[in-house]
Amino acid sequence: MARKLLIAGNWKMNGLMADGVALAKGIAEEVKKLGKVQCEFLVCPPFTLLSSVKKALRGTKIAMGGQNCHFADKGAHTGDISPAMLKDIGCQYVILGHSERRTNHFETNEIVNVKAQAAYSNDLKAVICVGETLMEREAGQALDVCKKQVLDSVPESATWQNTVIAYEPVWAIGTGKVPTTADVAEMHAAIRKTLAKKLGKSNANRMRILYGGSVKPSNAKELLSLNDVDGALIGGASLKVEDFLGIAKNSGAF
Ligand code: 13P
Repeated sequence: MARKLLIAGNWKMNGLMADGVALAKGIAEEVKKLGKVQCEFLVCPPFTLLSSVKKALRGTKIAMGGQNCHFADKGAHTGDISPAMLKDIGCQYVILGHSERRTNHFETNEIVNVKAQAAYSNDLKAVICVGETLMEREAGQALDVCKKQVLDSVPESATWQNTVIAYEPVWAIGTGKVPTTADVAEMHAAIRKTLAKKLGKSNANRMRILYGGSVKPSNAKELLSLNDVDGALIGGASLKVEDFLGIAKNSGAF
C-alpha cells in the first residue's frame, strides 16, 4: 500500500507575526506553483501565529498543526491550549511527545498517549514523536527505547488515518548530525513491526513514519527514498521557503 509522503515543518518557538506570515505566504506561493503533487504539506507554527498562518495558507491544501496540546477540552489549565482550540482555529494535526517537550516539560509516554486520545476525540491527527538520546544509541539501546516509546505513547485507538509517527533521534535534532541510512532503515522497520504488533498489520502498513533530525535539501533524497520513511519532520530547514520546498522537491514525490 502506497503511503503519501508528508513533508512537515515544525517551526518550534520561532517567528514573530511579520516573519511567520511571510514564511507561510512564501510556502503557499511555491506550493501552488508545483501544481498537483504526490505529497502532503504540513506546517506547525507557534500558537500565536496559527490564526494568521491559516489565512496565509488559504487556497492551498497545506495542512496546519499545533506543536502540543493539553488532554482536556477546557478548564483551569493556565497557559495550556486544548485540542478543541486547535481544531477551532483550523488545525488538522498536532505534534505530540516531541523530545523537547519530553525533556523540558517532563512529558511521559503515558501523557503523550492521553493527549493523542484527546486529539482523536477532536478530529485532529497526532504526529507522535519518538527517538533515543546519544547515550542510549551508544549503549546499543536505541531500538528498545523507541519500541517502548511507540508501545506506550501510541493509543490502542490509533489508526493509519489519525496517526503519524515521527522518528527523531534526539542527538540529530539541530546538530547537523544524521544517522546512517542503514540505521534509519533499521529503526523505521522496527517501528513498523512494533506498530503491527500493537495495531495490526493493515494499520501498520499504511501508517506514515517520518524521519526528523537535521533534514536538509542535500540529504532529503537518500533519507526519503528509504522504504519505510514516509516523509520528514523538519525543524531549522522549515523556516526557509527554499529549504522547505527543496526538501520536498528532493523527496522523490515529483
Ligand atoms: P532540525 O530539523 O532543526 O534538526 O529539527 C528537527 C525537529 O526537531 C523537528 O521536530
